[in-house]
Amino acid sequence: MKRRGNAPKIVAEKCTRCGQCVLACPSFVIEVGAKQAEVKRGEWCLGCGHCGAVCPAEAILQEATSYEDYPGRGAAPAVSSGALGLLLRERRSVRKYREDPVPRDLLEKILDAGRYAPTGSNTQNVHYRILTSPERILPLREMTLAFYEKIFSRARGKFGSFLLRMAAGRRTLEYLRESLPKVEHAYEEMKKGKDILFYHAPALILAHAESWDSSSPFNCSVALYNASLMAHALGLGCCFNGFLVNAANRDREIRRWLGIPAEHQVYAAMTVGYPALQYRRLVCRDPAKVIWF
Ligand SMILES: Cc1cc2nc3c(=O)[nH]c(=O)nc-3n(C[C@H](O)[C@H](O)[C@H](O)COP(=O)(O)O)c2cc1C
Repeated sequence: MKRRGNAPKIVAEKCTRCGQCVLACPSFVIEVGAKQAEVKRGEWCLGCGHCGAVCPAEAILQEATSYEDYPGRGAAPAVSSGALGLLLRERRSVRKYREDPVPRDLLEKILDAGRYAPTGSNTQNVHYRILTSPERILPLREMTLAFYEKIFSRARGKFGSFLLRMAAGRRTLEYLRESLPKVEHAYEEMKKGKDILFYHAPALILAHAESWDSSSPFNCSVALYNASLMAHALGLGCCFNGFLVNAANRDREIRRWLGIPAEHQVYAAMTVGYPALQYRRLVCRDPAKVIWF
């Protein structure tokens, strides 16, 4: 469902008719009238709060919010481009975790970072499933592995391959086939007690949202990316998990176990925990693939 914003309320005595709220509003909600700014199309409000955030007179505010919900900010960005660049290059996928659980208050901080990510039309439609102990994660791991066992055993056989090709396409089948030696190796490691799927992480977060909304994949991914950066800043580490996302959307048992609503898809997932390895170097990437116009 579209999230309905609370139309803004204007404090007439404070409004200076500067018109900045009109310029900032993405939804044609406000116009400058003869005496003050006026809410003309409140029902179109996305609830983004831009009007209140730009108003120099504190004269406009979403209904049911207060200026305490919108703390003041400095004129310059809170971090320098250099510091942000370093942070982005510090974040790595963490696949070796300490056993220590992730305290609830830190998980809440991580989620809070996700909350501040943008969403298409400000729907704020990202939902989470959070597993906070290895005991809770274990059944999910077993179900996910069982799902992949099925898929890879199909990729090994002729008839199964045919079905997979029909269902998922030629390139996916090729990818599965190419992955088989690595998968066999991974299963051997698994037999020795290694968790090659969730890396013995003490916590796991999934983000899901309504599948009719074309912004949902971005909304969930960027929320978890924000969350992963906060996790890094808190001394934690994360690893996105595409295997789980795929299995959670295709396997009925996993969906049911997680309680994913029928109209939702899982779009992002990540393990979380304290890193057991120290990264001493920043990330290096290929140059951006760009065509400038
Ligand atoms: C959408 C997505 C899915 C991913 N799925 C997995 C996964 O299932 N297992 C895993 O170990 N890493 C997974 N990763 C992590 C990537 O392998 C990793 O980001 C990449 O190798 C670059 O390493 P870095 O994140 O440390 O810079 C995933 C990353 C993304 C963005």
